[in-house]
Amino acid sequence: MNPRTSTPDLADRLLRLLRPHLSAPISVSRLLSELKVELPQLTASIAETKKWGYRLQQSETEIRLLSCPDLLNDIEIPHYLTTQSIGRTVHAFQSVQSTNDLAIKLAEEGQPHGAIVVADRQTAGRGRHDRQWHSPAGLGVYVSIILRPNIPPTMAPPMSIVAALALAEVFDGYCPDQTQIKWPNDVLIMGRKAAGILTQLSADQDQVDHIIVGVGININHQESDFPQELSSLATSLRCATGKKHSRVRILAEFLHQLESEYIRYTKEGLAPSQGRLRRFSSLIGRRINLMSGHNRMEAEVLDIDTEGRLVIKTEDGTKAVTSGEVTIVKE
Ligand code: BTN
Repeated sequence: MNPRTSTPDLADRLLRLLRPHLSAPISVSRLLSELKVELPQLTASIAETKKWGYRLQQSETEIRLLSCPDLLNDIEIPHYLTTQSIGRTVHAFQSVQSTNDLAIKLAEEGQPHGAIVVADRQTAGRGRHDRQWHSPAGLGVYVSIILRPNIPPTMAPPMSIVAALALAEVFDGYCPDQTQIKWPNDVLIMGRKAAGILTQLSADQDQVDHIIVGVGININHQESDFPQELSSLATSLRCATGKKHSRVRILAEFLHQLESEYIRYTKEGLAPSQGRLRRFSSLIGRRINLMSGHNRMEAEVLDIDTEGRLVIKTEDGTKAVTSGEVTIVKE
């Protein structure tokens, strides 16, 4: 449960009244009348909001919200959002097994396009290839977005590249020229993984019903927060920039960028984004080992094509592959 959602409804309603007026005094009499409560209840709910990390100043006549915590809840996220549809419905939790699993369930129950499931921590965060996603509390963003595009299933796989591109654009604003996309959908900073994407599709033969785009973003981890097996492979925005960042702000920036990449992709395909995909690619020009299904091959990466495929040169000639796991051959 989210610390905010688990608390009395009154504290929640109080924050919704105060949040748009950060730093501005609001009269106690106005709050009492809008919340339809007496002073002792108001005082109790103020104490409650302080437990969640909100700072308030109270006098006999006025209350001021002084600062807000970096919480991924449905009061903070909408405050930063600039999107039309993505993130307009928020399901926020303190702890879940996997936001992807929950998003799949909610999508099947009919949640709208753009709804997100976000958690402060995951106890069974899932990565690609049946791996786990390290999801400690308070450090990262673990979010799954429900998309309902009007596209055939053949257009679904590149959606993870679309999400990677959105995230790379956000990271690039914080770490210029240090961000790369490792095809198909890892986002790297200074060569180490800072975010991963797990997309899951539900479709019939002709039409996508929904796509779950699950994204794990390492934001405020320090080196010591990663388990030993990840220490040379993973990084975070904090490790890369030397300072802490607002998780809720980065989530909102990502959702904004995702919305514009999504609209572009569903209208025009990947062609308009190919230049940026090439620029962000960590693989073009490199020799790689590619595990695709049960096939392992060594190849040189030539390009990313307009369908998001990796164009490679192997000893059998040039081919375009749609999925696989890549390791770079050290030269
Ligand atoms: C990978 O790089 O292997 C993909 C990692 C995806 C992790 C995210 S965290 C939010 C969402 N919920 C999950 O269980 N997984 C994805």
